[in-house]
Amino acid sequence: MKFTFSKATIPNSGILAILVSEGGKLSAQAESVDKTTSGALKKAMKAAQYTGKKGKNLVVYSPANTGLEAIILVGVGGPKDQESELNIERIGGTIAPTLNAHRFTKAAVLAEKLGNFSAEEVAAHIAYAAKLKAYHFYKYFTTKKADEYPTFKELTLLVTNTKAAEDKFKILDKVADGIYLTRNVVSEPPNVIYPESYAKIIAKELQPLGVKVEILDRKAMEKLGMGALLGVGQGSTKESRLVVMQWKGGKPADKPVAFVGKGVTFDTGGISIKPSDGMGDMKYDMAGSGAVVGAMKALAGRKAKMNVVGVVGLVENMPDGNAIRPSDILHTMSGQTIECLNTDAEGRLVLADALWYTQDRFKPKFIVDLATLTGAITIALGRHYAGLFSNSDDLCDRLTKAGKAVDEKLWRFPTDEAYDRQIDSVIADVQNIGNEKGAGSITASKFLERFVNKTPWAHLDIAGVAWASKDGDFCTKGATAFGVRLLNELVLGLEK
Ligand code: BES
Ligand code: MN
Ligand code: ZN
Repeated sequence: MKFTFSKATIPNSGILAILVSEGGKLSAQAESVDKTTSGALKKAMKAAQYTGKKGKNLVVYSPANTGLEAIILVGVGGPKDQESELNIERIGGTIAPTLNAHRFTKAAVLAEKLGNFSAEEVAAHIAYAAKLKAYHFYKYFTTKKADEYPTFKELTLLVTNTKAAEDKFKILDKVADGIYLTRNVVSEPPNVIYPESYAKIIAKELQPLGVKVEILDRKAMEKLGMGALLGVGQGSTKESRLVVMQWKGGKPADKPVAFVGKGVTFDTGGISIKPSDGMGDMKYDMAGSGAVVGAMKALAGRKAKMNVVGVVGLVENMPDGNAIRPSDILHTMSGQTIECLNTDAEGRLVLADALWYTQDRFKPKFIVDLATLTGAITIALGRHYAGLFSNSDDLCDRLTKAGKAVDEKLWRFPTDEAYDRQIDSVIADVQNIGNEKGAGSITASKFLERFVNKTPWAHLDIAGVAWASKDGDFCTKGATAFGVRLLNELVLGLEK
């Protein structure tokens, strides 16, 4: 996919997209295009009862006197629809589907000032959103015909100051690259992405950007005493891995911020096996780790001025003669013992060692973990918010604000001491499921909290938002990469 920025002269061939405000209003330059066409655009708008509502686009073929194949009218709505970068991006998100629906491969967009945003900013955010929305994972189709694939390949943004728009886009483009990486690894099936192969992909993707990548294998983790993480993986023929990523964009002496991800490359439930209906969904049980990896790619790609650590625990949860059993006792790196009463509550076992390792080695300013941790979070929040659990109000505020800005919304849950009592075990320090019904997402978070050693920490339960069964503003159905934009936005706020 190619995005270029060039001088705002009206092309005389191909496809031109122009922005139309509520009420069918055109910019001065767009007005002159309409004049050239002897009013074809206004006539088309009238005939189609088109008013420039945001999200509504109209294609006018062969407009007179222009040489253009078509003009796409892109609805940008009124002032309320242009208040934030996110809203501008929502406009950009409609472009790829429109081009695909009409089998167009490329177009030029005549950018203009919208709300408080310059034409150059509008252009950059439109290009960014078009790229996000254009993602497709179709590498495994072999018999599809050419006319069944999306067509959109190239967008030219017409602006006055091309350099300003390019500079802005360059940064956003790096974030988009991180998002693409996340969507790719989350979409891949578990026979392709398993701990060892996944760790190699992480190294290959991040090392060239200057990220230090360390891969801990089973032996290394045994030495560290990571009996919980390794316990989950012990029923699988695929060996577990812990991958540690370090981006040092800040001052050498500055403590890093840390992101930790659940990377269960496939979750059968283990001996507490899941029903087969829908089990295939559990290929995306590594989406938390995927978000961390994508965020590291975005941050390193745009050279964030911060020290950032990413840690992902990669395991496959399989039933087997050697698998852990419900009631097994696991010894963690922290020294605490876990009574594993349900082998399907495995994400928290992986994170127990990954979190402890992260705080112990890096003494970070704070830790944010991301995990497709509980089905219960989807019962509570559906598919529009991720659950937020934290021991720090400040971190919650920052995360919530960042989430709002990029449409990766978070909702904070209570984390009272009473929930912690529900995971006290009779024979060990902690058990991996609650001893009362209900509040499954909260008790899971209380379990994690026992392994952060008082570090300011937030846990994002993304089980409901990591995968979309419907197209969204910036994403066709499938892996959403929820978390990448959020973490990038969080870091942006801290860099200032
Ligand atoms: N990976 C699942 C949670 C999940 C469910 C992710 C749906 C994405 C979509 C997790 O490991 C799990 O199995 N959780 C159990 C916990 C229970 C055994 C306490 C659950 O939610 O049922
Ligand atoms: Mn599970
Ligand atoms: Zn799981």
